[in-house]
Amino acid sequence: MSDKVYIFDTTLRDGEQSPGASMNTAEKLEIARELVRLGVDVIEAGFPVSSPGDFESVRAVSEEVGDAVVVCALTRAVPNDIEVAADALAKAARPRIHTGIGVSESHLRDKLRITGDEAVERAVAAVKLARGLVGDVEFYAEDAGRAEPMFLYRMIESVIAAGATVVNIPDTTGYTYPEEFGSLIGGLFEHVNGIENAIISVHCHNDLGMATANSLAGVKAGARQIECTINGIGERAGNTSLEEVTMALRQRSTYFGIDTTINTKEIMRASRLVSTITGIVVQPNKAIVGANAFAHSSGIHQDGILKERSTYEIIDPADVGVGGSSIVLTARSGRHALQHRLNELGFELPEGEFERVHAAFLELADKKKEVYDEDLEVLVGESERTLDEVYHLAQVHFTSGEPGIPTATVELVTRDGEHLIDSSHGTGPVDAVYKAINRIVEVPNELSEFSVKAVTRGIDALGEVTIRVTSDDGRVFTGRGAHSDIIVASAKAYTNALNRLLVSQKPTISEEL
Ligand code: KIV
Ligand code: ZN
Repeated sequence: MSDKVYIFDTTLRDGEQSPGASMNTAEKLEIARELVRLGVDVIEAGFPVSSPGDFESVRAVSEEVGDAVVVCALTRAVPNDIEVAADALAKAARPRIHTGIGVSESHLRDKLRITGDEAVERAVAAVKLARGLVGDVEFYAEDAGRAEPMFLYRMIESVIAAGATVVNIPDTTGYTYPEEFGSLIGGLFEHVNGIENAIISVHCHNDLGMATANSLAGVKAGARQIECTINGIGERAGNTSLEEVTMALRQRSTYFGIDTTINTKEIMRASRLVSTITGIVVQPNKAIVGANAFAHSSGIHQDGILKERSTYEIIDPADVGVGGSSIVLTARSGRHALQHRLNELGFELPEGEFERVHAAFLELADKKKEVYDEDLEVLVGESERTLDEVYHLAQVHFTSGEPGIPTATVELVTRDGEHLIDSSHGTGPVDAVYKAINRIVEVPNELSEFSVKAVTRGIDALGEVTIRVTSDDGRVFTGRGAHSDIIVASAKAYTNALNRLLVSQKPTISEEL
């Protein structure tokens, strides 16, 4: 028995069967090159008889990869399929024909409408024909997961005797449970004469979310080839994920006692490439390659990770080509995580200023799902800018609509702690807010410029408002404010500009640049 588990990648064949995932030859070649870098043992490049495009893909991949990897082509147990596959593989340095037939009661009775004896006869003839054309022939017993075990043993014994070098036991409908599937594979080793002459392969579908577990149970029971796809794409709920089985065997090497020769550092790159080409987005919580696979959100976990990564991570992200773990700043993040991220961004804030940024962070985090680096930069910048406040914006309320009269109420707090409230209406909510502020501050000025831009990502992005006001002696003062609500950002910007104007009137404070 082999001392390694072979990785048979079927992204280009079963993976392409994912609804909407069809790829052209150039795209398949790009993926094939990445699969070679990843170090897979076999690339199933297509089903040549199914279309001229599939034929061309198998032909082109065969030419491209040389002897780096076995190139495999799928067929039914039909002579013409096998002959066409052999033609498509003509340039392959290491060609393999993958032929087979249904073996479950359901497939024999309802799909093929033949007896078990006829199926064995066709299978044996197909394997013999294929062996006459290429030296490496894999036989698949379709729907083996639901087959009657005694019939499966008979079929497998016959095809090995006919020359099959690899025998694939697919759980085509994703029906089995790991213990059952492991016993099915174990049963082959007990009951099939000549089993030692073939490599046993597992090909599991994910209809009940068991594909990875079933494949690994198969390996535990003696299988030495796993058929899988990048990101687990494939027919219906998909196939076994290459990244999951590979990392399970690598991380739990003591448990399994056997490994693949996959270069795991290429995993993330392969995942992104397949997702980009097929348009199938990887779910964020997907094991190994999901965007959240190494992201930590809870304050307790973040504290642990920052002290020692292995407290909450069993895989080093670098081992699968991910830049590193990430700390997601949310309302659940603690002070440790915020401080750490600010330091990473190059901010060394004195204690008092950190407290101000922390308070602003919590306020923002309650409104946004996630606080990004750009948000922090704005919060730090804002806190620096507001050190010399004459008036602090405590709250702002506004209504507007159509029909409706835009109205605003603001509360400003002076340095002495006096709370001043006033209201106004205006041509729009920003105008109403500015008039209400003017009623309190009472400093002559003219608004000469107003601009708003999104400074962070997402629908809940921070908007930054920049304004310029001109004082009655002609000097211009800039104000900025950031908030996920742009009216609030506008109120902050205006208060900020007026503060600059006011402090500039005091001899002890430097003038606006
Ligand atoms: O799921 C399956 O049974 C298959 C075979 C064609 C190998 O994809
Ligand atoms: Zn399949």
